[in-house]
Amino acid sequence: MRSKVVTIDRHIIDEERRFPGASGRFSALLYDIALAAKIISREVNMAGLIDVLGRTGERNVHGEEIQKLDAFAQDVIVKAMDHAGHLCCMVSEECDEIIAIPDRFDIGPYVLLFDPLDGSSNINVNVSIGTIFSVHHRVTPRGRPGQLADCLQEGTRQLAAGYIVYGSSTMLVYTTGIDQGVHGFTLDPSIGEFLLSHPNIRIPDPPARIYSANEAYYARWSRPQQRLVDHFRGLDGDGGGGFKSRYIGSLVSDFHRTLLQGGIFMYPPDRTSPGGKLRILYEAAPLAMVCEAAGGRASDGARDILGIRPTGLHDRTPLYLGSSNFVTLAERYLAGGREGSARGPDFQTSRISERGGSDS
Ligand code: AHG
Ligand code: MN
Ligand code: MN
Repeated sequence: MRSKVVTIDRHIIDEERRFPGASGRFSALLYDIALAAKIISREVNMAGLIDVLGRTGERNVHGEEIQKLDAFAQDVIVKAMDHAGHLCCMVSEECDEIIAIPDRFDIGPYVLLFDPLDGSSNINVNVSIGTIFSVHHRVTPRGRPGQLADCLQEGTRQLAAGYIVYGSSTMLVYTTGIDQGVHGFTLDPSIGEFLLSHPNIRIPDPPARIYSANEAYYARWSRPQQRLVDHFRGLDGDGGGGFKSRYIGSLVSDFHRTLLQGGIFMYPPDRTSPGGKLRILYEAAPLAMVCEAAGGRASDGARDILGIRPTGLHDRTPLYLGSSNFVTLAERYLAGGREGSARGPDFQTSRISERGGSDS
C-alpha cells in the first residue's frame, strides 16, 4: 500500500495552494477533464459489450472515418466542459470549426483543445488508445465568445497539457508547465478515483534504446530520415544499433512508453504528407509540453514544437518526441550531418561526414 493515497482532486487543490492568487477556476477545469476521462474510460472498457465499436459512416475534416467511440468521446468532453463557465470555446480534432459555448452558459477565460480519441484505428482490436488535451488562456477581450486568435497560440503558452491512456489501466498524465513537473494518476475503477501513482515523472537517463516509427513508410522518407533509422537499426556502421523498435500506432501509447522508458517517437514527413500527419494544437503541442516538463525534447525535425504558432486549427507537423539526446541526434541527421553513435548519454559527436544539402 502506498504511504499516502492522493486523489487527483487532492493533488489539484494542493497544486492550487502554491499560487495564492489562484481563482480555483483552473482547478475546476482540470476536475472536469478528469470526470470526462472516467466516463470515456468506462465506455472504452465496455466497448466490446455495448454498441460503441465500429464506424459512424461519417468522415471528419481530415477525411478520416469517424468511429463510434470517437463521436462518443467527443460528445462526453463537450457536455462535461461546456456549461461550467471556464471556457470561451473549444477545439476538437473531430470538428472543422471552433466549438462555441452555448449562449445559455457563462463564458470563461480558458480554451480547451483536444483529440477526443487518439489511435482510432486501434479501437476495434482492443489496443490501447487515448485522449489528448491542451489548455490555453484566451488572448481576446473577455466576456465575448472565443475566437480563432484564442486557439492559434504557441505551445509554450499552454497553461496545462496532458493525456489519458486507456490501456491495461487508465492513466491520466498532465503538467501545468515545463517547470511544473509531470504527474501520473491511475484510475481505480472500484472507487472511481484517479490516484497519484507516478509523481514527478522524469524521462529516464540513460534512456531505453527504443525508436518508434511506422517503418512501412521508409521508401517515402527523405534520405536523411532513412539514414537516421538505418543508424538506429545499426546498418550504417556508425556504432548505432542495439535499439529495439516499438510501434503501437496510437500516439498516446507510443508516447506514454517513451515518457516512462525513454527512447524516441518519430512521425516524419514523407512524400505523401510533407507536413507530417500529426496535428499541432491537440496532438504535438500538448505532448511536447509533457515531454519537455519531464526532461525530454520535442521537435519538428528542425525546431522546437512548442515554438510553433499554427495558422490553422488542424495544421499538421512532423514530430520527433522523447529523450533529448535522441531528438537532438535526429535533428543533426535531418540537417544532413551524420553523427557518431547514439550510445545514450555519452554520444560521440565526431562528425563522420558532413554532406551539404539534402539528397532526399
Ligand atoms: P487519431 O486516431 O486521433 O486520428 O490519431 C491517429 C494518429 C496517432 O495516434 C498515431 O501515432 C498515428 O495516427 C498512426 O498513423 P499511421 O497509421 O500512419 O502510422
Ligand atoms: Mn490523434
Ligand atoms: Mn483522434
